[in-house]
Amino acid sequence: MRNLPIGVMDSGVGGLTVVSELWRQLPSEQILFYGDSLRCPYGDREEIEIRRFTFKALDFLVSQGVKMLVIACNTATAVCLEEAKDRYSIPIIGVIGPGARAAIAATEKQKVGVIGTRATIGSESYPKTLHRTHQKIEVISQACPGFVELVERGPIDREVALPIVASALRTFKDTEIDTMILGCTHYPLLAKVIGEVLGSGVRLINSAEETARDVSHWLTEHEMTRSDKDVLIHRFYTSGDANRFTEIATMWLGQKIEVSSYDVWDQEERKQKESSCARR
Ligand code: DGL
Repeated sequence: MRNLPIGVMDSGVGGLTVVSELWRQLPSEQILFYGDSLRCPYGDREEIEIRRFTFKALDFLVSQGVKMLVIACNTATAVCLEEAKDRYSIPIIGVIGPGARAAIAATEKQKVGVIGTRATIGSESYPKTLHRTHQKIEVISQACPGFVELVERGPIDREVALPIVASALRTFKDTEIDTMILGCTHYPLLAKVIGEVLGSGVRLINSAEETARDVSHWLTEHEMTRSDKDVLIHRFYTSGDANRFTEIATMWLGQKIEVSSYDVWDQEERKQKESSCARR
């Protein structure tokens, strides 16, 4: 069991920010990644759809044999984490708890900003999680639709990004927050521009680092770290265009990876067609 890969899912390429941290903190672990780029963004969808897509992706990872699941997507974590914990017998870690914990440790003024997709902000998962540990913390949230598209387009062009980011973050002007949770896997890739808009007095929290730390603690505590010393072969799947995914992933991870095109929904349809043909 301990030599199985860690299964990581995201709605697209954003979850690679978590993979990058897992590689840094746990270089001996094997990763099996599924990015549902064909259906990205999840963040503008209804909960019912986010649930269907997320569980389909997680079921796929579990069917491949993984020792742990990481939901490297804030939207999917907000909507599905609790249910996923009941559904699977392996440990499952989301990105919201770790991000909230890092923010509590970072804020001195007890004033925290949260930005994320419409679904994540609408779920109020961050304020609820923050208030569970720290009731007096002031939380100001803002959905930032448009940021994901900015990142998915490829290299960030500061001139293009700056006015969009500045306009979305107007909410935080004069709020005196000293900490901002980047509550979406894509946003760390916009961190430079976000930091420029908010100024140096606001600390940016990237939950990827803290999430990888949780994974590391769990594996160590339960003696589940990989013991095989053979060459690691990571596997990356995307339901979208594999070439495009490879291009963005290589840029973000700083190394070339092999990405296969695989849509879990296609396989399902194929199976249904095959079994209806067999019945005829
Ligand atoms: N991965 C999503 C998140 O962290 C962002 C992209 C999307 O909306 O699907 O919320």
